[in-house]
Amino acid sequence: MSFLKNLFTSKPKYVHVEPGGEEFEVPGGQTILEAALAQNIPYPHDCTVGTCGSCKTLLTEGRVRALNDFGYTLSQDELAAGYILACQALPKDEITRVKLENPATEGVEPEDFEGRVAATEPLTHDIVKLTVALDRPLHYIAGQYANIKVPQVGRERHYSFAQPPLKDGRDEVSFFVRKIPGGAFTEALFAGEYDCQALVVNAPQGHFHLRQGDGPMLCIAGGSGLAPVLALLEAARKNRVQRDCVFLFGARTQADLYCLDRIREVEQGWKGRFEFHPVLSEEPEDSGWAGKRGLVTEHVAASLPDADWSRVQGYMCGPPPMIDAGIHAMVELGTPLPQIYHDKFTDESHGAKHENA
Ligand SMILES: Cc1cc2nc3c(=O)[nH]c(=O)nc-3n(C[C@H](O)[C@H](O)[C@H](O)COP(=O)(O)OP(=O)(O)OC[C@H]3O[C@@H](n4cnc5c(N)ncnc54)[C@H](O)[C@@H]3O)c2cc1C
Ligand code: FES
Repeated sequence: MSFLKNLFTSKPKYVHVEPGGEEFEVPGGQTILEAALAQNIPYPHDCTVGTCGSCKTLLTEGRVRALNDFGYTLSQDELAAGYILACQALPKDEITRVKLENPATEGVEPEDFEGRVAATEPLTHDIVKLTVALDRPLHYIAGQYANIKVPQVGRERHYSFAQPPLKDGRDEVSFFVRKIPGGAFTEALFAGEYDCQALVVNAPQGHFHLRQGDGPMLCIAGGSGLAPVLALLEAARKNRVQRDCVFLFGARTQADLYCLDRIREVEQGWKGRFEFHPVLSEEPEDSGWAGKRGLVTEHVAASLPDADWSRVQGYMCGPPPMIDAGIHAMVELGTPLPQIYHDKFTDESHGAKHENA
């Protein structure tokens, strides 16, 4: 009886957003993101299904119910610090206060571009460079990603630009795509089914890019996560950024390393100290590999032995477990969470499912 009474007399719920100060009502059953967008309040977002992390928000007051567990897209450290995903959060209290770290729009607004697969070129046994020709030049910030949609696979997939942008935009863009066993998009791509394929590219997306600062940078990439990290480093080198930088690149064996020539070019042209360390987790003991071994995130502490970790900025992209471990290692050493920027290459196996996936 009291449940029915509460249902019919429940008070309206409001969300207050900092730093902009917007306040809006969230009708019953709507997420914070849905309510904001329905009321034309800009709110950072992309996938709306809890996988991309674009709507990551700090909850500063009130409680929310998660439609889908935040814990695949957000790390344990982010959850403990109070971060939520606005696209999966239903407010429970009359007033909920949240704080945004990423502005709703950064750089240019995303648009649809008509594209065609121009080339696929193997980089390793399970990573290809996918080149897409576009109907007009596309502008983006190094580190951002695109949503790619082919008619055969209803839901769009996210892929990070693997080159720095050009001043007049790029009418041909490239991505590093890793084959995911059982994956609808990547299995067909690797089977050659998308040669000359028409597709829609919605871009630019995301908030992973170089931030201002003069402290050291620690970059960590795993697998195809090299794409945005390399684009970011190449752009920084071109812009003569002068900061200490350590770059850890995690792979299984020597056969999984690629684009080493491009990384060496960054190293040679970098203004400041630059260290590059490939780290191999499954390289045979007797292979003669003299470099670092183990999981890439096990090398975080030793990568900047004399650093004041509260000044370090982290830039990491790749598989979810690597990102979670990388964030944890940096937080333990004293880096504030807001200084750790990442794109976690989540996939559909954990997010909320779309009807047409
Ligand atoms: C911000 C961002 C940037 C990214 N950038 C890159 C990049 O630069 N390069 C890159 O390679 N990847 C990137 N990704 C990952 C990429 O978007 C795709 O998720 C990935 O390529 C898999 O796509 P797919 O269609 O092949 O697999 P999917 O069809 O999405 O399947 C992925 C896995 O989930 C399983 N699965 C699918 N549906 C279900 C279901 N209903 N129930 C259970 N399991 C299911 C599949 O068997 C498979 O194991 C990025 C992801 C994000 C969020
Ligand atoms: S918009 Fe919320 S996780 Fe993508």
